[in-house]
Amino acid sequence: MRGVITSGGPEEGGLELVCEAEGLTLVAHQGTDPPLALNIDLTGGTRGYRQARAAQSREDLVRSLGRLPRGSQILDASAGLGRDALVLAAWGFEVLALERSPVLAALLADALERASAHEALRAPLARVDLQQGDVRQWLSRHGRVFDAAVFDPMFPPRRKNAQVKKDMRVLHRLLGADADSDAPETLAVLLRHVRHSVVVKRPLHAPCLGDLKPARSLRGRSTRFDVYLPKVPAGHPPESSLAVSRS
Ligand SMILES: C[S@@+](CC[C@H](N)C(=O)[O-])C[C@H]1O[C@@H](n2cnc3c(N)ncnc32)[C@H](O)[C@@H]1O
Repeated sequence: MRGVITSGGPEEGGLELVCEAEGLTLVAHQGTDPPLALNIDLTGGTRGYRQARAAQSREDLVRSLGRLPRGSQILDASAGLGRDALVLAAWGFEVLALERSPVLAALLADALERASAHEALRAPLARVDLQQGDVRQWLSRHGRVFDAAVFDPMFPPRRKNAQVKKDMRVLHRLLGADADSDAPETLAVLLRHVRHSVVVKRPLHAPCLGDLKPARSLRGRSTRFDVYLPKVPAGHPPESSLAVSRS
């Protein structure tokens, strides 16, 4: 059984969501060039669990969160292709992953379901709760406080860089060139909902999000992890309520 949802035909460079027994695939047509296909596979390849596990001890993302114990509650505010959520869960964190694009959330939910059929993945994936929605609305509705959050907003496509990975090219097609231009406001909201830190992923030489200076940065090979600390850690009473009465 195969189902296809189409937005624009191949000749117009449209997008197709293809549903087959093997899972969901997003196909981005690009005129006369061969189409690009995005099928999230959490069991192999560069996003694979084995690789995530092998690399986890040196995984910069985990290091950038500091010394949080396993079992800490982490908000992944930009679930995307699920790679970061899987790295965090493989490390032993409890992860709530939010993705606001309904199409991407469907692709990722499908990938998580397929991956959890693998025995070795069952335990880490049981620590990932994927929800579709905008993280700012979700937090204002639920008012929950997390130990930390990670945020990896889209970065505008670099026109001169032909090496932009295929998956990211499909994401740019799906989400638009100015996707996540509201990221600075999202960071401000996240900082009100964490006890310890918000880690923002940026391309190595990109300016800081909203030009806001982080408390520290960890530099990987191509990615920078900017660590922001909440002014008043969430869950703590505001300073005014701690003031000693002088009467
Ligand atoms: C670069 S991708 C994230 C990739 C992801 N870190 C991974 O490991 O696959 C950015 C994603 O964040 C999502 N996003 C950005 N702002 C968001 C928000 N306020 N709420 C929910 N999702 C958001 C976008 O829709 C996009 O899919």
